[in-house]
Amino acid sequence: MTSRPEIGAGVENVDMSDETVVVTGSTSGIGRETALALARLGATVVVHGRDEEKGRRVVEEIETDDGEATFLRADFSSIDAVRGFADDIRDEVDAVDVLVNNAGGLFSDGRLTDDGIEYSFAVNHVAPFVLTAELLPLLRDSEGRVVNTSSGAHTRADMEFDRLTSAEDYSAFRTYCQTKLANVMFTRELSRRLGEDGAPVTANCFHPGAVPGSGFPRETPLPFRLAARAISALPAAVQSIVVTTVPEGAETAVYLAASPEVDFSGEYLVDCRRRNPSSEARDDEKARRLWELTEEVSDVDYELSS
Ligand SMILES: NC(=O)c1ccc[n+]([C@@H]2O[C@H](COP(=O)([O-])OP(=O)(O)OC[C@H]3O[C@@H](n4cnc5c(N)ncnc54)[C@H](OP(=O)(O)O)[C@@H]3O)[C@@H](O)[C@H]2O)c1
Repeated sequence: MTSRPEIGAGVENVDMSDETVVVTGSTSGIGRETALALARLGATVVVHGRDEEKGRRVVEEIETDDGEATFLRADFSSIDAVRGFADDIRDEVDAVDVLVNNAGGLFSDGRLTDDGIEYSFAVNHVAPFVLTAELLPLLRDSEGRVVNTSSGAHTRADMEFDRLTSAEDYSAFRTYCQTKLANVMFTRELSRRLGEDGAPVTANCFHPGAVPGSGFPRETPLPFRLAARAISALPAAVQSIVVTTVPEGAETAVYLAASPEVDFSGEYLVDCRRRNPSSEARDDEKARRLWELTEEVSDVDYELSS
């Protein structure tokens, strides 16, 4: 067991010193470990989240290790804020080689955002959809990579398209699973469209494992929080058998961002290995429908082949 995701991912000798990576949701948890690991490989890192203090601490940690990083704040429940974040990135850096769309969570309460989108879908699905569109020109220039943090929870969902814009009969778990299914569908559909367009950008997604030691439980319903607390109370040796540690949870993100082996696109990975996502996630018609609906609700035009 290592606390360095780059070692677990087998990429500790990769040199990313010419690369700039954006890791959303890197003020804590899996994103933070991903940002620290990629900075250790030499990448310049854009750290993101809402919590300025935590963001500043991650930047300090990277700089103490002689790395380069900057923190940019944006609340992903607002499409304008996501677009503003993309503007800030363009102001701050000249290139984006890797975009890790990681920010997200399982949220107890269902509500509509000011954009009329259900909050979980807004943060977990629409924000990465908009941000990727905004950064695509930079990613094209650097023949870059998009890495999306999905979850094995996607296998528990069927897509209910009207949930994107409705908070009625909200179920935190069901909606979370659907947003993680949306992450896989988005990855596959983006990859297909990029391929048809001849765009030299790859898009892959992954399941990090069950990682109760991240900040993930904080906005979940009480039973989740209690279960996470009970697991955290177990001795470390027992914990490492039943759950994934936070650095281990970042290994596949680091692998997808850094490994020269990643010459594939549109794939779903677990433990740095390609796996089949659920049959629902492989439904190309539904992925196309979700793409079109998301373009509509977010007013984004990718200008890629359909
Ligand atoms: N933990 C698990 O067991 C598990 C399993 C499968 C998949 N995942 C996925 O892994 C990803 C990272 O989760 P984690 O476990 O590392 O949890 P975490 O420690 O809570 O990290 C979540 C990150 O997302 C950011 N975030 C949350 N809401 C946001 C919003 N409205 N606007 C902008 N940023 C926001 C948080 O930043 P601030 O707090 O600074 O806002 C934080 O940096 C998520 O996509 C999650 O679905 C987690």
